[in-house]
Amino acid sequence: MMNTNGRNGRNGQTIEQSIPVIEIANMTKIYQMGETAVHALNDISLTINEGEYVAIIGTSGSGKSTLMNMIGLLDNPTSGSYRIRGTETSELSQSQMADLRNKEIGFVFQRFNLLPRTNARRQVELPLFYAGTPGGKAVQMAREALAKVKLDDRADHRPDELSGGQQQRVAIARALVNNPSILLADEPTGALDSKTGDEVMGLFYDLHQQGMTLIVVTHDNDIARQAKRIVTLRDGKIISDERNGHTVLHPAEWARGGDELVTNGPVKGEAIAISLPKEGERVYESA
Ligand SMILES: Nc1ncnc2c1ncn2[C@@H]1O[C@H](COP(=O)(O)OP(=O)(O)OP(=O)(O)O)[C@@H](O)[C@H]1O
Ligand SMILES: [Mg+2]
Repeated sequence: MMNTNGRNGRNGQTIEQSIPVIEIANMTKIYQMGETAVHALNDISLTINEGEYVAIIGTSGSGKSTLMNMIGLLDNPTSGSYRIRGTETSELSQSQMADLRNKEIGFVFQRFNLLPRTNARRQVELPLFYAGTPGGKAVQMAREALAKVKLDDRADHRPDELSGGQQQRVAIARALVNNPSILLADEPTGALDSKTGDEVMGLFYDLHQQGMTLIVVTHDNDIARQAKRIVTLRDGKIISDERNGHTVLHPAEWARGGDELVTNGPVKGEAIAISLPKEGERVYESA
């Protein structure tokens, strides 16, 4: 459950807790392709606490989506341990795993993955029907989720009647409708122009402020900047794990020049692309 009681960030204060929600230890994922074995994840250990906002970056093929699929319980690792809120997932049956996924995890994809001829309301209601939520309650929950992404006025629109940013917001509402405690997003702005990407990032920021644990895979340094912690993968290994030590800034703050932004100095590895904005410089814009 997304719990906002008493831990909303005020005035940009951070709200992360030291309660681990995700504990990965020595995880590997090997894809056997004929003769060759692809080590997509190679001895990954990673703990993420409740309320953290983590960006996962790294070059193409470095294992980002594979790691997200493991975290999202969409696939099983070859070896290693993965606990969600203390529950060891490797010991669960497929149906227990599905229950845990439905309860704890919302997933947002680059290409929205919406049903083509289905209106927004219905897209968001569907996971609730699969979960057996009674009809009236499902309708109400879907309405709340659409309101959360500011799309209540577009509930009757099909994907082809919505902009790309609006489609992604429907997908986010669908991911949120079960009140998951963890929101995973794999390149959520990858198919969007920079302005609509900004809208989606603003939404993630708000969710972070409400206490959601967020993990976002991105090629976009602006998104990585918004996260409080940046994990960099290379060849299936974590090569850096940086907390950039500054208060998470709302996109609107960045546009003002980010004068509150303080870092603990240079960031190692590929996260070095995170540089301080200069006075008056427009920083909140994808290249
Ligand atoms: N289903 C699969 N079968 C075989 N190999 C796979 C499979 N999925 C991923 N791989 C391989 O595992 C490695 C990691 O892939 P992954 O999709 O996790 O990379 P990524 O970091 O998400 O890349 P991108 O930025 O291009 O999305 C790659 O070498 C890829 O070819
Ligand atoms: Mg990927």
